[in-house]
Amino acid sequence: MENLEQLVTQATADFTAANELARLEDVKAVYLGKDGSLTALLKGLGKLPAEERKSAGAAINAAKTQIESALAARREALRIAQLAARLAAESLDITLPGRGSARGSIHPVMRTLDRIEQLFRSIGFEVADGPEIETDWHNFTALNTPANHPARSMHDTFYLLDDAGQVRHDVLLRTHTSPVQIRSMLAHVEKFRHLDTMPEIRVICTGRVYRVDSDATHSPMFHQVEGLWVGEDVSFADLKGVVADFLRRFFESDDLKVRFRPSFFPFTEPSAEIDVAFMSGPMEGRWLEIAGCGMVHPNVLRFGGIDPERYTGFAFGMGPDRLTMLRYGINDLRLFFDGDLRFLSQFQ
Ligand code: PHE
Repeated sequence: MENLEQLVTQATADFTAANELARLEDVKAVYLGKDGSLTALLKGLGKLPAEERKSAGAAINAAKTQIESALAARREALRIAQLAARLAAESLDITLPGRGSARGSIHPVMRTLDRIEQLFRSIGFEVADGPEIETDWHNFTALNTPANHPARSMHDTFYLLDDAGQVRHDVLLRTHTSPVQIRSMLAHVEKFRHLDTMPEIRVICTGRVYRVDSDATHSPMFHQVEGLWVGEDVSFADLKGVVADFLRRFFESDDLKVRFRPSFFPFTEPSAEIDVAFMSGPMEGRWLEIAGCGMVHPNVLRFGGIDPERYTGFAFGMGPDRLTMLRYGINDLRLFFDGDLRFLSQFQ
């Protein structure tokens, strides 16, 4: 029976020495396998005299149980150690900041342009487009702006250079969206030349324009919205109605005054400037100029291929940058063009 005790001690020591599960299974076979020491002992029972057999069997079985439980304990210990090792090796440091994915958003001015187009579309305007590098003819000449007009000076207008580095006078960065009036009229007349009576022109054009100008309320690049409505009896009253209605819808407020102040543009006659004032809120009672407008000058209609004896029209040019400043309460125009995310992300 001392043999059995030794066997148990030895087996337990061997199990402890096995530091991997696969190795442990090999060691198990030495004791409990088909040819293992305990199995051999059990087989040997038959050779014992009958009176010893019972107690010897019980002792062997007790040793077997001890070995089996030592094996199970070791298995469990190895399994836990293996799991701990895996957890350590495969762990994620969840305190590291994620790579994230930045959320883009529509620029506040673009948001305004979309909104303006949508509002004008809803009253039957088409959306037109024109080039930012414009001909002198479309930008000035056809808009009844004579060669000596100050707007044509180098201080006001960005001209382009030719290959030899000389200033070109035939093309420039458009100073306003009004050349789109000319382009729209010419295209419209061409499209409907087969009809006796031309359908009305109702177009809106939003886009970038350029002037040599820079301070808190002027940027060398800014946006304009041009509107043009030409038909058989389009009047100044229509202009007032369209603009006032647009402004109320744009600002979602009836708490708004609109004023037409006499002005001058070479391409409209009579001409006016449009001011708005809010009747409540932080800007209460302050008049702000937001557009120029007027009845399209007969010479301009003629340049557009339209008979001024038969058709009349109105045009306006609005500053959507200013409209955006008013709508969102922004006090410096340059914020729109700095690309500062702290500012822009507020419009997500
Ligand atoms: N084009 C003018 C400007 O840039 C605005 C305007 C447009 C005025 C249409 C009258 C009619 O100031």
